[in-house]
Amino acid sequence: MRDFKGKIVFVSGGASGAGLGQAKVFGREGMKVAIGDVREDALENARKELIAFGIPEKDILPIKVDLTDRASYTACADKIEEVFGGPPHLFIQTAGVNSFGPVEASTFDDFDWVMGVDLFAVVNGLLIFVPRMIKAYAHKTEFWVATTSSGGAFGAGSTCAPYCASKAGVNNLMYSYAEALKPYGAGATVLCPANINSNIGNAEKFRPANLKNTGYHVSEGTMAHLRSIHAQGIDPVELGEILKEGIENERIIVLPDHHPETWAQQLRGNNEVIESYTLTGAERAEWTRKRDEERRKQMEGLFKDAGEDDGSGKRSLPKGWEVPDGAEAFGHARHDLDWIDPTRK
Ligand code: NAI
Repeated sequence: MRDFKGKIVFVSGGASGAGLGQAKVFGREGMKVAIGDVREDALENARKELIAFGIPEKDILPIKVDLTDRASYTACADKIEEVFGGPPHLFIQTAGVNSFGPVEASTFDDFDWVMGVDLFAVVNGLLIFVPRMIKAYAHKTEFWVATTSSGGAFGAGSTCAPYCASKAGVNNLMYSYAEALKPYGAGATVLCPANINSNIGNAEKFRPANLKNTGYHVSEGTMAHLRSIHAQGIDPVELGEILKEGIENERIIVLPDHHPETWAQQLRGNNEVIESYTLTGAERAEWTRKRDEERRKQMEGLFKDAGEDDGSGKRSLPKGWEVPDGAEAFGHARHDLDWIDPTRK
């Protein structure tokens, strides 16, 4: 998709962070911009920011929507058609949440909340919007579907399992949609950032009241640690530009904010692990020994500037990930869970 001017974009999670950056970028291209978010106050602030960014007020449509609620998401799609005269030509699902803690400490609420927003709401959006977009635009005009996934899609994370599982699912879904939409003259793009300067570190503050029973240790301090890491992430407008370039070039996967070789190394490594399971037992044991040795060397490189091992066997965090004064390390279990290894609490 190359022609944005005068068309309609809808960005989920558009009241903050990456979504707001995308709304700015595509608004600047002359699109009518609908943004959907569950937080009304954030929507109003985003509306003002978009106006200050130069987007005409008449081209901005903030919509309060809970994407996990199909009736609410359907009403949002209806509203866009009512106000802008049709479904979006560009549909970007960017809303997301995250919470960190050992997977074995997770509760149903942890999975329901994170997978509810990060995976099942994406399914909701695709099922609600794509048929409308095909009916309105197939073979007549360009249209496109995009989702903001994460680098977490490409690997497991034992302290962010619901998130990584969601994002892996989202990527796989988008590969299917990219193929499915081709005959209609459209396509799909999945954006996989590593770190964004956004407000996702505060997500726990807005966790719905009916899903508050977490197995993770969450406090003002753990959120402060997350915020300090995200503050070093890519600027949302810059990320929006990278997504635009990806859509213009019909890229199915967009991998920003890492050196290409870092991504290539990570992705090759993932594939090699999967491939290694085709080896016989002895061959695989030798393969694993060599790989562990390589990884040990790589990790030494990663941690060498991050401070000394204090003798406890625990290494300090990589540069830039240290726990700032007054903050608390995220990713631990709730202290009262008696089956959790003490080092995970
Ligand atoms: P953010 O917190 O700044 O923005 C996310 C928005 O989603 C918020 O405004 C929030 O209110 C909204 N939202 C959450 N639940 C919702 C629901 N049920 N219905 C409607 N809106 C809802 O966070 P950020 O970082 O901009 O997140 C955007 C996307 O980027 C997410 O999908 C996230 O997983 C992804 N991502 C973020 C990274 C980061 O370092 N911040 C790295 C890689 C991917």
